[in-house]
Amino acid sequence: MNVKTISLLVATYFVALSSLRAQHPKDLIPKPTSMVEHSGVFTLDRSTQITASSSDPGLVNAANQLNLILNLHLGYSLKIADLSSSTTGIRLILDPSVVHAEGYTMVVDRKKIEIRGSSANGLFYGVQTLRQLLPLNKPSTASIPAIEIKDEPRFQWRGMHLDVGRHFFSKDEVLKYLDYLAMYKINTFHWHLTEDQGWRIEIKKYPKLTTVGGYRAKVGFVRNQAIGLNVDNGKPYGGFYTQEDIKEVVAYALKKHITIIPEIEMPGHSLAAMFSYPELCCFPNDIKEFQEGHVTTDIYCAGKEESFVFLENVLKEVFALFPSKYIHIGGDEAFKDKWKKCPRCQKRIQDEGLKNEDELQSWFIRRMEKFINANGKSLIGWDEILDGGLAPNATVMAWRGERGAVEAAKLGNDAVNATAWPLYFSDGQNSDERAPGNPGGNSLMKVYEYNPMPNGLTEQEQKHILGAQGCLWSEFTPRFEHIEHQLFPRICALSEIIWSKPDKDWWEFYNRVAEHENLLRQYQINYSQRRSYVVES
Ligand code: ACM
Ligand code: ZN
Repeated sequence: MNVKTISLLVATYFVALSSLRAQHPKDLIPKPTSMVEHSGVFTLDRSTQITASSSDPGLVNAANQLNLILNLHLGYSLKIADLSSSTTGIRLILDPSVVHAEGYTMVVDRKKIEIRGSSANGLFYGVQTLRQLLPLNKPSTASIPAIEIKDEPRFQWRGMHLDVGRHFFSKDEVLKYLDYLAMYKINTFHWHLTEDQGWRIEIKKYPKLTTVGGYRAKVGFVRNQAIGLNVDNGKPYGGFYTQEDIKEVVAYALKKHITIIPEIEMPGHSLAAMFSYPELCCFPNDIKEFQEGHVTTDIYCAGKEESFVFLENVLKEVFALFPSKYIHIGGDEAFKDKWKKCPRCQKRIQDEGLKNEDELQSWFIRRMEKFINANGKSLIGWDEILDGGLAPNATVMAWRGERGAVEAAKLGNDAVNATAWPLYFSDGQNSDERAPGNPGGNSLMKVYEYNPMPNGLTEQEQKHILGAQGCLWSEFTPRFEHIEHQLFPRICALSEIIWSKPDKDWWEFYNRVAEHENLLRQYQINYSQRRSYVVES
């Protein structure tokens, strides 16, 4: 045996050992608000019971979710019983004295694991913390270290986005994505459902949106093919979610305490809709399918009433599918070239006494906001909705830096910070040219070091910053394995900056992530490798 073989065997032995023992509380991600370790362990085996303080559906769900996790880590699940039947085992207790609605407490001692929350959300997050204390490799008994945790989130909007327009990801892949968000206590999934390159949500009134707009002639994005990430087989590329699929995803998200914010882009980024129904744009005869390398200037015609009838009908079906308060209407990168040339759009500018096309966009968004509000929902849009005047009740999602969030907060409107630097996970995290994603330097370190609360806001204005969100555009991530590569381990840093207190210690976090990789490997997640963590490409 040479030295290399021996060191490989030793390394394998330690990896095996580390996956059998429980994970260590000091490695929890996101870091809890407070934690005290004690001596001793709770020994969990097949005879342990989960008991719940009531038959409240939220509690039953927390117990069922825990059983799914136990199955993954131990290979078995546990009996669920009423709390009064035992003072030992895993106890899930609704307790109004836990102050924060999403907070929880957890006590592990020799007799019990007790999780308390004033709501099912808090209990669910306690269960997610317990996931990270379980052994990984299905031993028949598990020793959980004695500990006391008090934990609550820093921000109420803890989001992650996914673009399914540029590349399509199946319903099962989206469910897996939700699993990943839930692991890190992320409570908002921003589902970018419509794009120039594909319309992905079935709308019964307009079937061509998916039969035509859901597919394109080629997979496209040739850079992916040049570096071997994908192949264009010459066949049409695409896919969409039926309304039944959407209902299933929404119900699944509900069990994970994740709200889904659907995004229906307007007035730009809407070529797939226009290719399906050319009458919606200013110059129907000009419409061509999305072309590689071309900037798309197609836009809903703001002069035609048909555009608004269409969008309202689409949104009515969207409202019925998604229980979320917010509807994301996009609003970004709407090129006004067509509006400048269109007699109908110019007439609208005159009739409404508007100054220019920016004000026409603002008028468009305000009109949609009235409709959205009249249906009991709230509008959120990218920071371009500030241009030409913000709609009165709109929430701004800042992506071109923090500026839009600051401006909105100063106007007294709510904002979510999704600044592209460093929260766009479609940008690279390392210097590997063969890695998927845009080149870029949104390294794990940059995400971790970032404070989502912008400087220069008063205490009152800070209240308008609802939280922050990572975004994953999919031009250069054609397959789900690439999505995983972009998401991990940066989602660990995202969860820290939106859930945990803002004190930071990069090397302490770095070591926690290194330990956490044991879990990612066990879950067979295609995470980006460690060497990329500190490279600032
Ligand atoms: C965006 O990245 N266009 C919101
Ligand atoms: Zn027009």
